[in-house]
Amino acid sequence: MQLLALQELVHKTRDTRRAQTLPKFPANERDTLIKKYHPDHRESAYRPIKFGPNAGDMTVRELATLLEGDSPVSAELDLTPTYSTDVLVVGGGGAGCAAALHAHAHGAQVLLATKLRLGDSNTVMAQGGIQIAITKEDSPVQHFLDTLKGGHMKNDHRLLKTMVEEGPTIAKWLLDLGVLFDRDPDGNLHVKKGGGSSKPRLLTCSDYTGLEIMRVLKDEVLNQKIQLLEFSAAVELLGDSDGACTGAVLQDLDNKRYLVVAAKTVILATGGIGRLHIQGFPTSNHYGATGDALPMAYRLGAKLLQIDTFQYHPTGAVYPEQLVGALVTEGIRSEGGHLVNAKGERFVNELDTRDVVSSSIIRECEEGRGVRTVTGRLGVWLDTPLLDVESGQGTLEKHFPAMVRQFKRYGIDITKDPVLIYPTLHYQNGGVQIDVNGESGVRNLFVAGEASGGLHGRNRLMGNSLLDLMVFGKRAGTTAAERAKAMKHGKLTLQHLARFRAEARKHSGALGVHSPMLFPDYARKEG
Ligand code: FUM
Repeated sequence: MQLLALQELVHKTRDTRRAQTLPKFPANERDTLIKKYHPDHRESAYRPIKFGPNAGDMTVRELATLLEGDSPVSAELDLTPTYSTDVLVVGGGGAGCAAALHAHAHGAQVLLATKLRLGDSNTVMAQGGIQIAITKEDSPVQHFLDTLKGGHMKNDHRLLKTMVEEGPTIAKWLLDLGVLFDRDPDGNLHVKKGGGSSKPRLLTCSDYTGLEIMRVLKDEVLNQKIQLLEFSAAVELLGDSDGACTGAVLQDLDNKRYLVVAAKTVILATGGIGRLHIQGFPTSNHYGATGDALPMAYRLGAKLLQIDTFQYHPTGAVYPEQLVGALVTEGIRSEGGHLVNAKGERFVNELDTRDVVSSSIIRECEEGRGVRTVTGRLGVWLDTPLLDVESGQGTLEKHFPAMVRQFKRYGIDITKDPVLIYPTLHYQNGGVQIDVNGESGVRNLFVAGEASGGLHGRNRLMGNSLLDLMVFGKRAGTTAAERAKAMKHGKLTLQHLARFRAEARKHSGALGVHSPMLFPDYARKEG
């Protein structure tokens, strides 16, 4: 059937579908579905890591190659510091800015270095909201339980308890800084419900929550006159002979020169790995999301965890080509949007956890109930016009202005026509192992945000990432600043590289691959 005829079917079946309620998957069926269809369970996509702190652990091939990759830095590099600081923050997204602001507020001298511009990050692209238990019908305990269930009970309990309990303080901090969260007519904060949550607890700024939070954090970093290096990518960490972190080597992307930073403490907040395009998936992630923290921390001896699990967000755009992989916020499903296959049928409770919804979409497509675009991509429909039908004309425009505009640029009116979607690589569930203050297994090396692991278990709930960034950015920033007050600069060495390279040689690692990769492999390479 032609695409237009299939689209017409979505309109025709709307009334029948509106009368249906689809139950969520029972636990045993959920696990069977995920094992069969979720990309985390495609064995051929995985291999064991050959050496280093996670030797023998399985991860996706793309990441294993980077972890075993060589540093671009020669062991002979002159380590005379170009900069010296108490706290070096690497990354200019939500976690990096939160860490820098709190470290600065605790009296530390802070240098924030970022690969692109301040704010270029996944945070700025976050649409759906930040989960915080603030209503009287809700509680941090309920938030804890929902998150644990969503994460398949594999979440680090201490990290999770810390996050949910500190949520309300974070909401106040953001409000005090000037974040304009949506409010009800009575002036109270408006809360929405996300997939896998038992209570409405998402604070939103329509569908540009991350943009609004980032606007305020960026302003504050500039207002506080925190020293900032843009277009300066961290490429290696420095350590002393006891294995503690003592700074980093950055590369000035304008002239390719190395900059040596002596730092008493280092906070890595470089975000996720969507641009590795694991298993060939498109991604919702920003251009710089190449997982830079992971190989750097790994070479210095930090252990990673749960690096065999990734989040494929159910609703990435499939059409038009210019938007392939771009996020279509879960908010649309939270407000009642149906997922519809080529036969005009619903096939999953749209607010089940993301791994269940994504697996169900993949199942529909693999079993011949997907819709094929002119370029050969498969997807299912997200019935966006339903929101206006259910809640009155103008609902989509009011609650999802960014989404309406994103499609309008390509001549698609999502208030009138459904959109085609398919899972898109959205989030790394695991990362560097940290304690409740964000410190990794390497002394004085902190990791905050998506680069860290353990908090979300094997599947993150919507809106928990923004809270994660704020809570652990704050904790890492505060602890790193306090630590720095009581210590002197350590010796700057690259001794760990000699050890790492010897290991690599033994296991035929590296093979000419350098990491971190900094940019996706289709990036323009100039001069
Ligand atoms: O669908 C979304 O708006 C995504 C939110 C999230 O990943 O937290």
